[in-house]
Amino acid sequence: MLLGTQRVNGSGALEIGGCDVAKLARKYGTPLYLLDEDCLRQTCRDYRRAFESRYPNVHISFSSKAFTTAAVCRIVDQEGLGVDVSSGGELHTALQAGIAPDRIFMHGSNKSPAEMEAAVANRVGRLGIDHLEEIDALQEIAGRQGAELNVLIRVAPGVTANTHTHIQTGKVDTKFGFSLAGGAAIEAVAKALKAPNLRLRGINCHIGSQIFDLEPFREAASMMVDFAAQVRDSLGVTLDDLDLGGGIGVRYQDGDQPPSLDEYAEAVTSAVKQRCQLRSFPLPRLIQEPGRRIVGEAGTTLYTVGVVKDIPGIRTYISVDGGLSDNPRPALYEAKYSAIVANKAHQPRTHTVTVSGKHCETDTLIVDLRVPEISPGDVLAVQTTGAYNYSMASNYNRLPRPAAVLVANGRANLIVRRETLKDLVRCDRVPPRLRSS
Ligand code: LLP
Repeated sequence: MLLGTQRVNGSGALEIGGCDVAKLARKYGTPLYLLDEDCLRQTCRDYRRAFESRYPNVHISFSSKAFTTAAVCRIVDQEGLGVDVSSGGELHTALQAGIAPDRIFMHGSNKSPAEMEAAVANRVGRLGIDHLEEIDALQEIAGRQGAELNVLIRVAPGVTANTHTHIQTGKVDTKFGFSLAGGAAIEAVAKALKAPNLRLRGINCHIGSQIFDLEPFREAASMMVDFAAQVRDSLGVTLDDLDLGGGIGVRYQDGDQPPSLDEYAEAVTSAVKQRCQLRSFPLPRLIQEPGRRIVGEAGTTLYTVGVVKDIPGIRTYISVDGGLSDNPRPALYEAKYSAIVANKAHQPRTHTVTVSGKHCETDTLIVDLRVPEISPGDVLAVQTTGAYNYSMASNYNRLPRPAAVLVANGRANLIVRRETLKDLVRCDRVPPRLRSS
C-alpha cells in the first residue's frame, strides 16, 4: 500500500514528497513524524469538491484535535477549510497560527470557565453547547463582554456507529450533548433561544470516528433534520446550521476500503436533501468536521530498528526507538498499522515480525508485519499516522516527543521541533524542603 506521494525510487528507497525518507531519518533523527503536504492539500480539496459539487451551502472545518499544530492550521486555512477546536489549548494554537476567529468552531464536553471566557473574548465563529449550565455561563460571559455569541446545540442522536467502542460518540449512552430521546435536546434549544446574548445558529452532532459504513451517517443526518423540523414546529424557529461532525475512516492496512469522499458526500447530502424535502424544511448550511480523513493518510512515522529478538518457532520481535509515547492508538483502540522498511522498500517481504516500541511494558505497535530481512539500523516507516498520533503523544518513560517535518516536492521543513531533555524537566519543581539531603 502506497499512499499520497509515497513511492519507491530507482534505488529502491521509499520517498515521500520527493524526499528519501531514510535520509530524513538520518538528518532529523527518529522517531520522526512526516507530513505529506500534497496529500494533505489534495484531501482538503477532494473533501470540499465532493460536498460543494452536491450541496449549495457547505462549510468544512478541520477537526484540529487530529494533528494540532500551527503549520497544519495554516495549510487547511489556505485550502479554504475552517478549524474546529475542543479546548483552550487548541483554540490558542489556531489563533497563534493566524486563523481568523470567525473561522474557528469551539467544542468541548466540559469547558472550563477560562475556556469559555477565551472563546467569547476572541469571538469564535461558533461555539457548541454541551450542557444546560453552559448556557447560563456563556450568557453571563457574553453579557458582561457585550458580545453576541453564535452557538450550536450538541445533539446525541442515539446512533451507534460500527467502530471501536472508545470512539463511538453519538450513542444514547454517551457523555456528549443532549439526547433526542427524552426531550433534553429540545429543552436545551428552548433555553438557548431565551439567552439574550446567544444567537442559536443550529445543531451539531458527531457519531464517532474511523467509520466505513455509510448507514449511520445517513441515519444521523435524517434524525438531525427531523429534529430541526421539530424545533421549527414547536418553537417557531428555523435553524440555519446543520453540523454533522466528522468520522469518515481512512486506510491503515492493505484491504481497508473506506468509502470514497464522493460516496460519503453523496450519502450525507442526499439524506439531508431527502429529509428536508419530506419535512418541507429549507436546506440548512451543512457543516462537516473531518479530522482523521483530512490528515490521517498524509502522516508517516519513521523509526530506527534496534534490537532484533528471534524466539525460534514463536516470533521475531523487532524493537524500534519509539512506540506508545508517539502512538498510543494500538494500546488504546487495538489499532492496526502497516509499515515499510524505507531503505529496503523494493526488497521482497520474506519475513514476519512483530514491531515493539521501547517502552517498559509490552508496547506492541504492529503484530505480524511482513518485511524483508531486517537488521538494526533499518528505517521503519509506519503509515497513516497523521491523525491522533502527534496530538496524543506523551512523555511516557520521559521520552522527548518527536519532531514533525513537512515534505513536498523534494523539500523538507520542520513544523514541530524535537523536544530536548531540558524540555522534559522544564515543569519540574523541587520544594525547598526536598532540596537538602
Ligand atoms: N467533531 C467532533 C465534535 C469530534 O468529537 C471529533 C472527534 C471530530 C469532529 C473529528 O472526528 P474524525 O473525523 O477525526 O473521526 N483519538 C481517537 C479519535 C477520537 C475522535 C474524537 N472526536 C483515535 O485515535 O481514534
